[in-house]
Amino acid sequence: MFALLPVLLVLISGTGAQLLFPVNQVPFELRRNATASEIAGPVWHEARPPRIAIVGAGASGSSAAFFLSHFGALRDAGLATDVTIYDSNEYVGGRSTVLWPWNDDPLHNPSDRRLSTDAVAAEEDDVDPVEMGASIFVAANKNLQKARRDFGLEYEPYGGEEGNTAIWDGEQWVFEETNGFGWDWWHKAKALWRYGRSPFTVRSLVKETVGNFLNLYSPAFVSQGAFASLGNFSTATHLRDAASKYANQYLSSKGVGDLFTNELISAATQVNYGTPIDRLHGVGALVSLAATGAVSVKGGNRQIFEEFVGRSGARLRLGEDARVHSLMKLDAAPGKRAQWLLRTASGVSGGTYDAVIFAAPFHQTGIQFSNSMVPALIPKQPYVRLYVTFVITNATTPQPSYFGLPDSTRMPNEIFGTFTTPSSSKPNFNSLNYLKALPASIGARFGEGTYHVVKMFSDHSLQRDMLEALYGKHNVAKTVEKIWLSYPQLQPVTSDSDYAPVRPDEGFYYPNGFERLISTMETSTVSSFNAVSLLLHDFFGYTPPASWAEWPDDLA
Ligand SMILES: Cc1cc2nc3c(=O)[nH]c(=O)nc-3n(C[C@H](O)[C@H](O)[C@H](O)COP(=O)(O)OP(=O)(O)OC[C@H]3O[C@@H](n4cnc5c(N)ncnc54)[C@H](O)[C@@H]3O)c2cc1C
Ligand SMILES: *[C@@H]1O[C@H](CO)[C@@H](O)[C@H](O)[C@H]1NC(C)=O
Ligand SMILES: *[C@@H]1O[C@H](CO)[C@@H](O)[C@H](O)[C@H]1NC(C)=O
Ligand SMILES: *[C@@H]1O[C@H](CO)[C@@H](O)[C@H](O)[C@H]1NC(C)=O
Repeated sequence: MFALLPVLLVLISGTGAQLLFPVNQVPFELRRNATASEIAGPVWHEARPPRIAIVGAGASGSSAAFFLSHFGALRDAGLATDVTIYDSNEYVGGRSTVLWPWNDDPLHNPSDRRLSTDAVAAEEDDVDPVEMGASIFVAANKNLQKARRDFGLEYEPYGGEEGNTAIWDGEQWVFEETNGFGWDWWHKAKALWRYGRSPFTVRSLVKETVGNFLNLYSPAFVSQGAFASLGNFSTATHLRDAASKYANQYLSSKGVGDLFTNELISAATQVNYGTPIDRLHGVGALVSLAATGAVSVKGGNRQIFEEFVGRSGARLRLGEDARVHSLMKLDAAPGKRAQWLLRTASGVSGGTYDAVIFAAPFHQTGIQFSNSMVPALIPKQPYVRLYVTFVITNATTPQPSYFGLPDSTRMPNEIFGTFTTPSSSKPNFNSLNYLKALPASIGARFGEGTYHVVKMFSDHSLQRDMLEALYGKHNVAKTVEKIWLSYPQLQPVTSDSDYAPVRPDEGFYYPNGFERLISTMETSTVSSFNAVSLLLHDFFGYTPPASWAEWPDDLA
């Protein structure tokens, strides 16, 4: 989810703040099996705290470590754990990370070489990096919002450069914003005429979804115990119906018109999940639309995850040597718990652990398992291959000629593609967004005029000649491409066995299974909280009375 659609927001959220209403007390019936299963294992009786390995230091793994330390620090609760985090990257954050695409080495933090007597270097160091992966989180994302506040991190509203937004279908603009954010009554009226009540219907669906979602942070919900089954979770959060259908079918069943779905909502799913509306489930579409109050952390969202790790006091192992290579389950001695022998790629034993929190997409890790059913229990999950391209250009907007328009056309600098209209040719990219202008000292490296950083998403590599046609022959100074396995292909969930179990084996927790339902930074932390809650129940018979986001001040 990098760029929401301001246009769409104007339509569906009216005043903008409407999704920010208090927790909606929706009655829900809970049937969770946190303790019923035999694989929970016996409670912990040893004198030492359990040793826990976390695989992955992204949103999920870093927050799992933090939540464990939160409970470990509760006075007289006896919930201490001894945690080691492994990540094969050189940094904490996983799919949430930054770059400086205008520099020779885009991944190197320029402020690492502080020789600040040099005024130019100092100015260049001051330019914040841009997000390479996960860019925004929203008002309803309680864990991230609390983390940002508690850790004293500054935020910036999502925006990019001033300018207009439009939706392109490969042949024509299906939607155009004319006066920046100033939406005059005439355009609103035109939209209403074109889309009828659909924007209002979508607005109330999104509002309801956000309300149900906010409910899951409430003490009433959390204190009933963790979920071992995501099918049950989707029932309790009222997401089951939307998850079971393609988004276009789901929206149509709710009375949303096809024109609105194919022209506008499809552009939102295309930018958020790299997938048109008719190829992902309804929850994917609802999440793509719930973008009220979108912000990023100034300097990079990954700072939240660095803080999680730093504050958790967990041991952190980063880099190739910390790549986990194999996990072997060691059967339990009578009355004791099974253990896990972890080896890293360097062949060095990582040690023996009482539990593993596996916070990475299972089939992308290459980890070998022995003596465990885990690989058989985790469904194969294809991911969307997404090309993120940063273009350094001195063109103030894309060229009208690329879109077959006269040179005098006033061009948007934020463009979303929609792939589900009847046009005969399709867009070459999912999205294009002018992020910011670079200071003159940096621009001077490239040539004349003011240089801008533009971020584009596509499902293929963008060729030089295409980019030159788009921005002008002499106007493309530099490009940086990053290929991600970005998010799951969100096929409709037709059976609960489409979801991985939260605890597929004794002492083994898999928060990442949640991505099959929703893939965002926040939900990675929500799922980790659930996994930690299940783990604490298995080991200590403890059930958290509240979520971390709503943790009462009077509980030590
Ligand atoms: C381009 C893009 C844009 C996105 N936009 C948004 C957005 O705007 N908002 C939003 O909320 N979400 C967005 N997302 C989704 C979001 O990034 C993810 O949902 C979230 O970051 C997932 O976090 P995670 O911790 O579950 O997984 P990851 O961040 O993938 O972390 C898994 C970690 O495991 C490590 N690992 C893997 N294998 C091994 C191994 N064998 N040994 C050791 N370590 C291993 C990896 O190095 C990685 O660091 C976006 C994603 C992409 C790619
Ligand atoms: C959940 O618990 C109930 C009651 O103990 C049991 O009948 C049922 O089989 C359990 N389901 C699972 C999936 O463990
Ligand atoms: C919970 O999940 C189990 C097994 O996946 C299922 O049998 C049960 O009906 C579910 N309960 C609810 C409320 O969905
Ligand atoms: C961009 O810079 C190049 C190289 O200096 C120059 O040839 C070109 O005219 C500039 N374009 C604009 C729009 O300023």
